[in-house]
This record gives sequence, C-alpha cells and structure tokens, in this order.
Amino acid sequence: MTVRLVIDTDTAADDCFALLAGLLHPQAKLEAVTVVAGNVAFDQQVTNALLTIEVAGRGGEVPVHRGCERPLLREWVSAEYVHGIDGRGGGEFAGPKQTADPEHAVDALLRLADRYPGELVIVAIGPLTNIASAVVRDRDFSRKVKALYVMGGANNGRGNITAAAEFNFYVDPEAARIVLGAGFTTTIVTWTLTVRQAVFDRVRLAEIEALDTPLSRFFTTVNGPTLAFDEKVGIGGSTHPDALTCLIALEPALVTRSAPYFVTVETQGELTRGYSLFDWGVFGRLANATVVEEIDGDAFYAAMTRLLTGSGGASPAEPGAPSRPEGGAIQ
Ligand code: BDR
Repeated sequence: MTVRLVIDTDTAADDCFALLAGLLHPQAKLEAVTVVAGNVAFDQQVTNALLTIEVAGRGGEVPVHRGCERPLLREWVSAEYVHGIDGRGGGEFAGPKQTADPEHAVDALLRLADRYPGELVIVAIGPLTNIASAVVRDRDFSRKVKALYVMGGANNGRGNITAAAEFNFYVDPEAARIVLGAGFTTTIVTWTLTVRQAVFDRVRLAEIEALDTPLSRFFTTVNGPTLAFDEKVGIGGSTHPDALTCLIALEPALVTRSAPYFVTVETQGELTRGYSLFDWGVFGRLANATVVEEIDGDAFYAAMTRLLTGSGGASPAEPGAPSRPEGGAIQ
C-alpha cells in the first residue's frame, strides 16, 4: 500500500539516506520534506535536502520547506562534531536546480494534514520543533495525521549527546514533550535500538561501496564523518537511525518486536535535559507510543542496499574525491 509521506528532517548524513528511502522506495509517495534546526547549520541542511533529491533523480518533484530555525525555548545545539560541518562528508556536488519552497514547513504540515485527513504519515528524524509548532497551531493536527514515526530517545539505555539524553530529544526537549503528549499514533525508533541493530560494519560498508552506483558513492561519501565518529566512540560501524525509521514506516514487517510504552521527556532536570522516560507499563501510566524493540537487521540492510543499487539521477562525488571537513569538530 502506498504511504503518503512527509519527512521532517535536520538533513545531514543518515537523514539523507532516510530521504533516499522516501524518494525511491516503491511504497512511498513523498509529499514534502520539512527542515528543522538540528544537526548542522540550517541553510546547509536545506541544501543537503535539495541535493539528496537531485541525486535521487527527483529534482523539482518534491518540495523542501524551511521550518523552525531554532528550538522552541533553547539555543540551537548542533551535531557537527558527529556529521561534519556540511553533513555530507565534504562531497563535491553540482548545486541543485531546485530551490526551497516559499511556504513555511509548519504551514505545509498543516495544509497537507488538512488535504489528506487520516492519510498522512510523518517521519520525524530531527528535533520535534516543527511538529510541536503544528500541534500548537492546530489542536486537531494529531488527529488528522495517520501516523507519526519518531527517531528519538533512549529506551532505558545510554544517550548519545549526554549520558542521559539522545540528540533529537536533547536539542528541543519541550517540543518532544508537546509532541509525545499530543495524541498522535506514534511509533518510536530509539538510539538504544540503533546501536544494537542499525549499525553497518566495515564489511557491509565495503559491500555498499562495491555496488559502485552513483547512489552508493553518495552514501559512502556522506557517511564518512559519521562512521569516523561512531568508531571513535566505540561503535562497530556507522549508525542509521533515520533511514531505519523511514523504512519502518514503509515496511512495517522490518519490526520483529515492539511494545506499548508511556514516553515523555525531561525538561527540568539539572543533569538530565532531554532524558526520555520509557515507562513499560507497570507504574500505572497509559501508553502513548509503540516503541520498536527489535528489528530484522538483515532485512533492513537488504532494503538499504536495494535502494542504493539504483542509479538515482545525478552523478555525485567521484569515488576518492571527497575531502573530509577540516577542523569541523566541536568538542
Ligand atoms: C539522531 O541525531 C542525529 O544526529 C541523527 O540524524 C539522528 O536523527 C540520533 O541521535
């Protein structure tokens, strides 16, 4: 069945691969890409989204809307130290012909939910500022949306920006709290699951590189800084939470175990900003989300390689050409 999709993204690294899934998967009808403050500088994220659309051969077909350029209450915090300053591995790309749509992302989200009531599936793979703003603007927004897939939080596990918090919830904890309390039909893909099952090790990355298609070369280039960072912090390969979230929305059979949880986010804690509380149901709170606990990791990898086997439409960086961003790390 076709999935009518919006991807809300802070486009860098794995976000680009989630966009490829939305752009190229046979089940996906990608209505719009909405950009939110997160991983790297805002304009860079917009450019990365436009470039990914071009590389996928879909230039001019899917609008990119600029959204909230900072979190609701806090200063912007980036993940440039993870994904590099440009969020695309220093790859050289011809500038996309497409430009950003003049409509604001939040307006686009509200318009699409009105136009396709009960049909729209939102994949939110950045901080939840745009989605929270839509909730605040229209109290019925969550009821009009068919399903919301969120990449965020750690399910009683380690964070990745602090010991307590995962990046997307840390950057805008107030937005995350609003969205989790808004009554969406929500599925959550966590950092905890990611480090267990959405890591591509060097063997798999070599297989992807060996595909030697324009899209596999794009993947390898864009993925470079994330791989370097992940290995530096002891993960055995590059992490792909965003691509996984989008593919789960398109191929629910990738999920082999999930469970209902009550999930909310700490906004007040002194040391626990963005900590996500995953309550598994024994403390009397009603579940507000389905949390993915286990996936078929081989099927996820196979779905990714199927996407990257295609040729896309443009010729991204030549193999060997990418230069890593210099001095981009923020400690
Ligand atoms: C999340 O943070 C970002 O850096 C990734 O794109 C992903 O959405 C993981 O914590």
